[in-house]
Amino acid sequence: MFNFRLLLLLQILTIVKSELSIPSLPKVRLLHSSILVDKKLYIFGGFRDNPFSDTIESTYNQSPDDRFFYLDVSKPFYTSKLPWTADNKNLPLNNFSSVLSGGVAASYGGNNNVTIYFINNEHDKTLPPVLTFNTSDYSWNNLFQPNITGDIPIGRNQMKPITDRNGKIYLLAGFSFTTLQNVKRNGGMFIFDTINLSCVLDYDIFTSMLRVEYSATLLPNGKIVYMGGKGSDGTLITDGFRVVYLYNTNNSNWERQSTAGSIPNGDNGISSVLGLDGFRIIVFGGGDIDNKMLYVLDTTNSNWYEPNVSGKGPIMKRLEHTANVIGKYMVITFGSGTNFNFTYRNIGESDVLLLDIGNSSNYIWTDYFDPDAAIPPQQLPQQQYNNKNNIRIIIGVVFGVLGMICITSLSIFFFIKRRKKSLNETTFPIPDNGENVKSDLEISSRASGSSY
Ligand SMILES: *[C@@H]1O[C@H](CO)[C@@H](O)[C@H](O)[C@H]1NC(C)=O
Ligand SMILES: *[C@@H]1O[C@H](CO)[C@@H](O)[C@H](O)[C@H]1NC(C)=O
Ligand SMILES: *[C@@H]1O[C@H](CO)[C@@H](O)[C@H](O)[C@H]1NC(C)=O
Ligand SMILES: *[C@@H]1O[C@H](CO)[C@@H](O)[C@H](O)[C@H]1NC(C)=O
Ligand SMILES: *[C@@H]1O[C@H](CO)[C@@H](O)[C@H](O)[C@H]1NC(C)=O
Ligand SMILES: *[C@@H]1O[C@H](CO)[C@@H](O)[C@H](O)[C@H]1NC(C)=O
Ligand SMILES: *[C@@H]1O[C@H](CO)[C@@H](O)[C@H](O)[C@H]1NC(C)=O
Ligand SMILES: *[C@@H]1O[C@H](CO)[C@@H](O)[C@H](O)[C@H]1NC(C)=O
Ligand SMILES: *[C@@H]1O[C@H](CO)[C@@H](O)[C@H](O)[C@H]1NC(C)=O
Repeated sequence: MFNFRLLLLLQILTIVKSELSIPSLPKVRLLHSSILVDKKLYIFGGFRDNPFSDTIESTYNQSPDDRFFYLDVSKPFYTSKLPWTADNKNLPLNNFSSVLSGGVAASYGGNNNVTIYFINNEHDKTLPPVLTFNTSDYSWNNLFQPNITGDIPIGRNQMKPITDRNGKIYLLAGFSFTTLQNVKRNGGMFIFDTINLSCVLDYDIFTSMLRVEYSATLLPNGKIVYMGGKGSDGTLITDGFRVVYLYNTNNSNWERQSTAGSIPNGDNGISSVLGLDGFRIIVFGGGDIDNKMLYVLDTTNSNWYEPNVSGKGPIMKRLEHTANVIGKYMVITFGSGTNFNFTYRNIGESDVLLLDIGNSSNYIWTDYFDPDAAIPPQQLPQQQYNNKNNIRIIIGVVFGVLGMICITSLSIFFFIKRRKKSLNETTFPIPDNGENVKSDLEISSRASGSSY
């Protein structure tokens, strides 16, 4: 009897404790950062008020639980009850650039990509240019000029940082600035190496890349596709999607690429992710009500199209939100309608939107996140292949068929052998064709003559 009561008490305590570790509902926001590290989608900063004033800035967003927290994507959840978790261990609140001065840009990097780099803007020279948070040992560090060699990076919340496979963060500054070393520049690309903490400013960019609130997507071949956005003075880039810009991280070369198909109107505050197939760029949101919610750019033929979508999607279009790919989902966080319209909560829409992008012939809006959901086999690019590729395809098909015959005969063999033991054991692994997707993508882009 006593033991039973003790057990009950312990259970109640556990429930109370787990409820306590979930912070109260975070406030709505836009122009925040979202950084995926392992099974945590970290959210930093953002704001929700307009007009903004110096007086409120000094006290703005000073609640650590509302400034830096994460979505726990290790477990399943419904978007009606989001697993937000506070993780503000010693958050150095006042060492981040203020929202009023343009905020920060943040991305992951360092050894094993477990460290988050918060890159401050250039306005307050007393602040550390870069703050780091190591998610594996919870340590914070300030990096100043002696710690970072070369140029000192400048980040703002209207920039979209990209981390490449070598731990370099690419930060396109599409506006004029004065570097911390007092050099005036009309835009540039900061390339911040988070492994050896060196940084270079490559200011040889197209004048057409003078923009903010663009989207940036890293392709498997190391090129970053920039699109959309507006001038730092607020002018809309009307051909923001008709012409996209490719930055080759291997050699710092820029290319201009015209597109065709159902080209959306130019827009800013959009988000984009690379589809699981490695060649489609999925673009969500923005402020232009004449545009649809979702568009896809097929990078093998530079063609825009409206994807097939099912499920109950959002009614309110959002801008200045973020998007990350987690498992088979495009995970969209926060954002608002135009003019700080956050009424999406009133109409029952969540701070997190989930688009299942597992099947590119049919994306599905969903309210359920399954961390273990299998990623379906991906469609290869639809292309006119040249002879050389045909040979590769024929070889591939022949080996594929031989492989299937082998697998089939083996499985029949094992099936017969095991049949008496159990009926549940006859599962065989689906071959992972990720590698094939990548190499075919490279081949097909050469074949089509497009410059991706
Ligand atoms: C903020 O940065 C300053 C200068 O590096 C440092 O002295 C201070 O400890 C930092 N504050 C926190 C909370 O880390
Ligand atoms: C983060 O912490 C881990 C564990 O202490 C360490 O191995 C790793 O080197 C740290 N990363 C950086 C970038 O300092
Ligand atoms: C940055 O440099 C300063 C001065 O050399 C040094 O004291 C500090 O430990 C360095 N910080 C890091 C994180 O390396
Ligand atoms: C770090 O992230 C990049 C970009 O997502 C990836 O290409 C790279 O393999 C990752 N590095 C490690 C050590 O996990
Ligand atoms: C850091 O590594 C890059 C290559 O990624 C190299 O070009 C650069 O010289 C290195 N810088 C330092 C200070 O070691
Ligand atoms: C960039 O370099 C990587 C590694 O060497 C290579 O796999 C990739 O194809 C290169 N990308 C381009 C566009 O040349
Ligand atoms: C906010 O957006 C909703 C949905 O688009 C609209 O019905 C409402 O009128 C807007 N509110 C304001 C204040 O603009
Ligand atoms: C993807 O969706 C299409 C259309 O709904 C369907 O025909 C196809 O079988 C699906 N593919 C996979 C791998 O589920
Ligand atoms: C949309 O679905 C239809 C019917 O399943 C299919 O024929 C078509 O190819 C799909 N379109 C795209 C863009 O995937």
